[in-house]
Amino acid sequence: MFVLVNLKAYPCDPIEIAEAVRDVSDASGVDIAVAPQTAHLSQVAETGVETWGQHVSPVEHGSHTGSTLAEAVADAGATGTMLNHSENRLKLADIDAGLEAAERTGLGTTVCANNPEQVGAVAALGPDAVAVEPPELIGTGTPVSKADPDIVTDAVAAAEEVDEDVSVFCGAGISTGEDLVSARELGAEGVLLASGVAKADDPTAALEDLVSPL
Ligand code: G3P
Repeated sequence: MFVLVNLKAYPCDPIEIAEAVRDVSDASGVDIAVAPQTAHLSQVAETGVETWGQHVSPVEHGSHTGSTLAEAVADAGATGTMLNHSENRLKLADIDAGLEAAERTGLGTTVCANNPEQVGAVAALGPDAVAVEPPELIGTGTPVSKADPDIVTDAVAAAEEVDEDVSVFCGAGISTGEDLVSARELGAEGVLLASGVAKADDPTAALEDLVSPL
């Protein structure tokens, strides 16, 4: 299982969480990565944790003020990036160009989608992975695997129909080891989560609980 901890724009300490993720990942053998704010990428990558961007812009070097250049994200030490998170929705053409930018710089790619239909559409663009996240469950603590298991199985089927090689992740409301196991049983190869770790009083304990049944 792959676990991506998205720090969003939460008021957490990205280094404290990065170190916790690194240590729990090393101790458990579970592949866990952190996606901090772009401005924190270098500091987070320096801890040795697997580091991901939350987004890259669909641009190349040039006159693109305010953009998140894929080259800069990779230079900062990131090895992957999300695209089209439901809090940062993109047009299809921009997802496509964002994927091109990420691939140009060697970043792994996970494209988020709201539902299985969108999963099928973005899988056709050839990312490494797609992630289904029903927006109404994000940040609720109610896991998608319990509230709407069909959305995960349908997303897996939709992706497989388009491209057997694309990995399928799920996210929204996931915070416990039990949630992770349910996601895996529904066919997800990884999960995206945020508040369960970024808002935890003790991120290490939250991460240890998460990986304990694996
Ligand atoms: O990117 C993962 C995120 O949207 C899920 O958020 O807080 O429900 O784990 P959360």
